[in-house]
Amino acid sequence: MDSILVTGGTPLNGQIAIAGAKNAALTLMPATLLSEEPLTLTNAPRLSDIKTMTALLQSLGVEVTALQDGKVQVLSSHAMTSTTADYEIVRKMRASNLVLGPLLARHHKATVSLPGGCAIGARPMDIHVTALEAMGAEIELKDGYLHAVAKGGLKGAKVPLRFASVGATENVLMAATLAKGTTLIENAAREPEIVDLAKCLRAMGAQISGEGTSTIEIQGVDRLGAATHPVVTDRIELGTYMLAPVFAGGEVECLGGRLDLVGSFVEKLDAAGVDVTETKDGLKVKRRTDRAKAVDVVTEVFPGFPTDLQAQMMAMLCTAEGTSVLEEKIFENRFMHAPELIRMGADIEVQGGVATVHGVKRLKGAPVMATDLRASVSLILAGLAAEGETMVSRVYHLDRGYEHVEEKLGAVGARIERISA
Ligand code: UD1
Repeated sequence: MDSILVTGGTPLNGQIAIAGAKNAALTLMPATLLSEEPLTLTNAPRLSDIKTMTALLQSLGVEVTALQDGKVQVLSSHAMTSTTADYEIVRKMRASNLVLGPLLARHHKATVSLPGGCAIGARPMDIHVTALEAMGAEIELKDGYLHAVAKGGLKGAKVPLRFASVGATENVLMAATLAKGTTLIENAAREPEIVDLAKCLRAMGAQISGEGTSTIEIQGVDRLGAATHPVVTDRIELGTYMLAPVFAGGEVECLGGRLDLVGSFVEKLDAAGVDVTETKDGLKVKRRTDRAKAVDVVTEVFPGFPTDLQAQMMAMLCTAEGTSVLEEKIFENRFMHAPELIRMGADIEVQGGVATVHGVKRLKGAPVMATDLRASVSLILAGLAAEGETMVSRVYHLDRGYEHVEEKLGAVGARIERISA
């Protein structure tokens, strides 16, 4: 397994190009299951999670062609061979569950293994199941698989979600495009990836309104056609690289960055003493003072502070002046980076879903271990500011969500290298 070696203490200067969003691509790719005609995605990120989704779709008979080094993907579901998402693929990535809604909508049946993914909490699928049942599906859990059928097809319905789950909103949104009649998703998630999915589905011929708000209305149509769609910028990769100069000093411009994607995050950066300026091509970031200031953070559904930036923010606050309190409200077990940061000299107390970080002047490099995707990148960021060398091992999680992290950070002056096992 590869490791990443970071030597801290060099300021960063230059530009980093932000890729297309992993979490958008992972829901746009299964949208191809809704149509016989091809779906072309441009600005696709090149990540191992995308390879996993490709393998899953191929196992269903979808033809996937990657062009321009994987940045363009042409997906075609004209010759489907299966409606079963097998455990061997699904266990690698929770987002595999996003084939459930489209398969049910177009093929009226789906067998989908319960998912795996990062070990950051229970992450059940009850919201997906209740919602699809409201649309006429019959779903049974047997031998670790959800067996779903919709005799005569799905029917439009009022679908109130007990929590604004991103995945459940995506599954229902896709399913409703081919259902008979009107579907109203209430308490829908409002994340930019959902807005992007709605845009793509509309380009395929779906009738959708209200995406980006808590109520999405979908009028079912008989069929969807071909479309070409650019994947929205990855707001989590954006936020991660925006933090890099806050750790290391210097000034970094994140190309493709947009304030509307990271509003609540930028508010916290401002309070911590970080300047974020809009430029023609993105967002420029620079710390106002030598040391950032402590801030309190509560993770929430969009437009609140994203849980996927909590680990990176905590790592930054380890050396801020004062005490910060971080509350994790989306996942119950998402502080696995804290013990690793403590190994680097951080002063953190975790009690349930709350972490209290007392800022220290400087972290010290240490051998640390990545436990999930965002935790692993938070340790790399911490290494940028730490004294000496930080060796982050088990970085396979990192490759699930970050394209060439060592090249992107290396290009702005970081001393970082991948050590292949
Ligand atoms: C998506 C993102 C993930 C991000 C998360 C929250 C993708 C591929 N992944 O994950 O990076 O961290 O949104 O912004 O887009 N829940 C239930 N029952 C359900 C569904 C969810 O209890 O049926 C709970 C989960 O356990 C979790 C919370 O709801 O505690 C949030 O989950 P959800 O919004 O569904 O996240 P994902 O779609 O899995």
